[in-house]
Amino acid sequence: MIKFPRNFLWGAETSSYQVEGNNSNSDWWQWEKDTGKENSGNACRHYELYSQDFDLAKSLNHNAHRFSIEWSRIEPEEGKFSQEGLKHYIEVILALKARNIEPMVTLHHFTNPIWFSKSEGWENRKSVARFLRYCEFVTSALAKYVRYWITINEPTIYISHGYILGVWPPQARSLLKAKAVEDNMVLAHIQAYRLIHKIYKRSDIPEPSVSIAQNVMAFVPCTRDLKNRFAAYLRDKWYNFGFLDKLMRHKAMDFIGINYYSRQLVEAPNWGLSSLAMGVCKNDHHLVKKNSLGWDIYPEGLYELLLKLKKYAFPVIITENGICTLDDDLRWEYLYAHLKNIHLAMEKGVVVEGYLYWSLIDNFEWDKGFAPRFGLIDIDYNTYQRTVRESARRFGRVCKTGVLE
Ligand code: FCB
Repeated sequence: MIKFPRNFLWGAETSSYQVEGNNSNSDWWQWEKDTGKENSGNACRHYELYSQDFDLAKSLNHNAHRFSIEWSRIEPEEGKFSQEGLKHYIEVILALKARNIEPMVTLHHFTNPIWFSKSEGWENRKSVARFLRYCEFVTSALAKYVRYWITINEPTIYISHGYILGVWPPQARSLLKAKAVEDNMVLAHIQAYRLIHKIYKRSDIPEPSVSIAQNVMAFVPCTRDLKNRFAAYLRDKWYNFGFLDKLMRHKAMDFIGINYYSRQLVEAPNWGLSSLAMGVCKNDHHLVKKNSLGWDIYPEGLYELLLKLKKYAFPVIITENGICTLDDDLRWEYLYAHLKNIHLAMEKGVVVEGYLYWSLIDNFEWDKGFAPRFGLIDIDYNTYQRTVRESARRFGRVCKTGVLE
């Protein structure tokens, strides 16, 4: 029998831009308009329907829920903070607490206010002070309700997609800019971490638990060729652990939040930097099942990564893991296999304190639009009707009993 600890955090998550709808002060909204990309529009209308969604989470026995605050609703114009925007998120948190669901709040999940991006976004050194001012406003008001904070969601994805691959706003392709953004995000996290702790201390509130949500991938060499093995080693070091190493050195983490989805089959055709950093096998060697976006399903990768995290000697929370698919049996297979691998790692001494599935409801998957279905709950985008999937019920039984059958 596979049994998880009693006080394990079980639940799912969303992010503001992907579910709320009509975030018209956000830079992603502007980008959709400028590029003619699929519009997020009403998204899931979660901004109005959140109570309904939390009722469903409760009925599925979730005891934790991660969501994000849309910075552009809090500070639609530089320095002008919206009490109304804040009030909404207080209501959201109270709605979770009324259902005995522990909130985990993300302060930055890929999107920025338009004014922020117009003044060079995260490339600008001032971004750090700007982010801190927003954090101060939000966290001082929410401290009394919230214990778990994620400052920044997946900085490495934000940087690689926005500043190296150039597929997300601001569509830059510049290592120099990427480096500036990384430096600013590292500093922003460290300072936000200290600020949040200071606010709790000052208000005599028991210590918070603060982290980032780090996207990690299983980098698997396609063949035993030295180039491939070296490339996989480098990617692990840079991509998976670069950010974490820096934050650990500054003692700016209370737990490790990781988002895990898939593996990358590493094939470096030559010793050049971009081949080592980005070369992938295109021949579908070592075929495995895939999600509807073509990402490999590779649960053992999560086990291997969790063991690697042991070196930090910090508790881990799986802040995201999930699959987009129209085959709900495959969703359950995915969930089951990943939970099993987490448990295996726990048996090997890794301290895992929670598992949050991405996502509670189907939602707007960034540049991929509404087609990918990641939700435990199906959304009908014509009627906004919610329908609980069978995999969600099965996961709900695990949440209730802590037992994976
Ligand atoms: C992660 C993001 C999340 C969602 C999932 C599928 O990288 O944090 O917003 O898009 O992928």
